[in-house]
Amino acid sequence: MENQNHIYPIFDRMLGRKEKEELLGQRSVMIWFTGLSGSGKSTVAIALERELHRRGLLCRILDGDNIRSGINNNLGFSEADRIENIRRIAEVGKLFIDTGIITIAAFISPNNDIREMASAIIGKDDFLEIFVNTPLEVCEERDVKGLYAKARRGEIKNFTGISAPFEAPEHPALTLDTSKLTLEESVNRLLGLILPRVTGKTEK
Ligand code: ADX
Repeated sequence: MENQNHIYPIFDRMLGRKEKEELLGQRSVMIWFTGLSGSGKSTVAIALERELHRRGLLCRILDGDNIRSGINNNLGFSEADRIENIRRIAEVGKLFIDTGIITIAAFISPNNDIREMASAIIGKDDFLEIFVNTPLEVCEERDVKGLYAKARRGEIKNFTGISAPFEAPEHPALTLDTSKLTLEESVNRLLGLILPRVTGKTEK
């Protein structure tokens, strides 16, 4: 790319992740939620952040509707735009990870290629994929934002689960079905996975 020709990154002269993690007394990781709209990604992410914060751990949530009303407000839901959406999010997420911050991403991220791209940008050892596997019928029944009804009426094109595909992850670190688990149960399962990684202890 032409505009890449005269760029001289200074990453090697800046303080690094290790120093930031030491300052914070934690290890960072990307907790990447994937699942349908209405599956519970944001709700679980918010509850998880509160529990980690309560234990003295610094977190940052990146969430679909927030990011799409800010940095990604020029993107729609075509395949190319979804790729660009997730690419930017992964790059921003990496900045947080490199600052020692536990980063929680809640995006549909509808297929393996897109999630693999995110994992490659962030680094696969720092990428924990969490599949919020709530059945489509339940998401549609909840229809918190009224979008499924609109999608069924054809008022929204390329709606994931209705008129655009969702591909289940092959080897998620954890799968949560929020129609079967309480919010507390989902968060406890996540804490069991995350706390040993970020603190080196099982409970704090
Ligand atoms: S992603 O597919 O690019 O990862 P993202 O998580 O950022 O999606 O945004 C999903 C949110 O955008 C949904 O929760 C919903 O509120 C809204 N949305 C609007 N149009 C669509 C659509 N066509 N498909 C899916 N979600 C949509």
